[in-house]
Amino acid sequence: MGAEIKGAIEYSKGLEGVIAALSSISYIDGSQGKLVYRGIPIEMLAKYSNYEETAYLLLYGELPTKEALENFTQQMKTFRILPKRVEDCIRELPPNPHPMDILKVAVAHTALYDPDRLRCCREGVMSKVIRIIAQIPTMIAYYHRARTGQDIVPPDPDLGHAANFLYMLHGKKPDKEEARIFDVALVLHAEHGLNASTFAAMVTASTLSDINSAIVSAIGTLKGPLHGGANERVLKMLDEIGTPDKAEEYVLNALSEKRRIMGFGHRVYKTYDPRARILKEYAEYLSNKYNDRRYIEIGERIEKIMIRELGKKGIFPNVDFYSGIVYQFLGIPRDLFTPVFAMARSVGWAAHVCEYVQNNRIFRPRAYYTGPDYVEYVPIDKRR
Ligand code: ACO
Repeated sequence: MGAEIKGAIEYSKGLEGVIAALSSISYIDGSQGKLVYRGIPIEMLAKYSNYEETAYLLLYGELPTKEALENFTQQMKTFRILPKRVEDCIRELPPNPHPMDILKVAVAHTALYDPDRLRCCREGVMSKVIRIIAQIPTMIAYYHRARTGQDIVPPDPDLGHAANFLYMLHGKKPDKEEARIFDVALVLHAEHGLNASTFAAMVTASTLSDINSAIVSAIGTLKGPLHGGANERVLKMLDEIGTPDKAEEYVLNALSEKRRIMGFGHRVYKTYDPRARILKEYAEYLSNKYNDRRYIEIGERIEKIMIRELGKKGIFPNVDFYSGIVYQFLGIPRDLFTPVFAMARSVGWAAHVCEYVQNNRIFRPRAYYTGPDYVEYVPIDKRR
């Protein structure tokens, strides 16, 4: 029996290089540092699009007409409001847990009141999806206001998705330029193939569970420091280093102790992550605008050292390295960096789930059995 279980199964640790689905949503060229959503280069979307339009593109497969975009944007605005009971519950949640844990609770809780909960047709599922994407920012902002003893700021229907989040978080309308920078950051984080959290969502959905459960799985997966949780830790590291002249010693020490430098390395990119390139420009811009170059200078020093030391191994900055500096200047608290990532990525999760279940097959890999072939059962009073 053991031999059969051990049989001709190919093993790839961490599923590296395994093709687990067909998808037309995005493509990453890891050696050239290129990323496209539905064929459109990320740089063009960063320049010309916004989060709402990109979300439509990812979900429906093509850019919307003017009218379709207006309808979609309006629907997202309508869906921003949370059910009263969820709002009340968020006010009562303890102030200490990591906000990613709060987000899991809030998404699961909101699902109970979703008017489309029992609708499994494409329209019903899309409605649930758009509601989740629209509500996550409200959940994050409300929780932050409540935990800091501030009044909750309801969504403003005159503001776009990105600007409205900053407004609900800070209680004042953001300046247009900063709202645009945040909008681009959301576009850059919206989708990225079968990363760990997207795959987790797909595994859940492949059992024909519901979309809300899939998103909850994804949030729990994104939280980890090897995935979405890295951005928060980058800022912690920059603080620990303190000044650019200490970066060399810090990085070399970490590497000699086999510790990871957060915000570097990627399973697919073996060159500079194109999203990091754009975010670095914004980090630079905001550092100059606020005349505070502390973080960017340490960051750039780390980048140089890491590329010198590990560039030959394909280790370069990833999306998480400069995003934290950008968010810091936009006044987003550090422990909300990963929830903000979830807010952007919710559309990628949903797009993959919707695509996969159309031609569904339950995910069910096997483990390569390394245990003994046969062990005699020993009654408990005879064990030593
Ligand atoms: N710092 C130092 N060394 C690194 C780093 C890093 N950040 N990343 C990879 N390496 C080294 C590894 O030690 C390993 O070296 P070895 O071959 O001498 O043992 C080699 O590069 C390959 O690393 P793996 O862990 O095998 O690469 P994998 O594809 O499994 O991991 C990952 C990718 C998890 C992103 C990794 O690079 C990492 O831990 N990075 C730091 C955390 C991070 O920034 N995560 C965010 C990723 S982007 C995202 O999820 C949004």
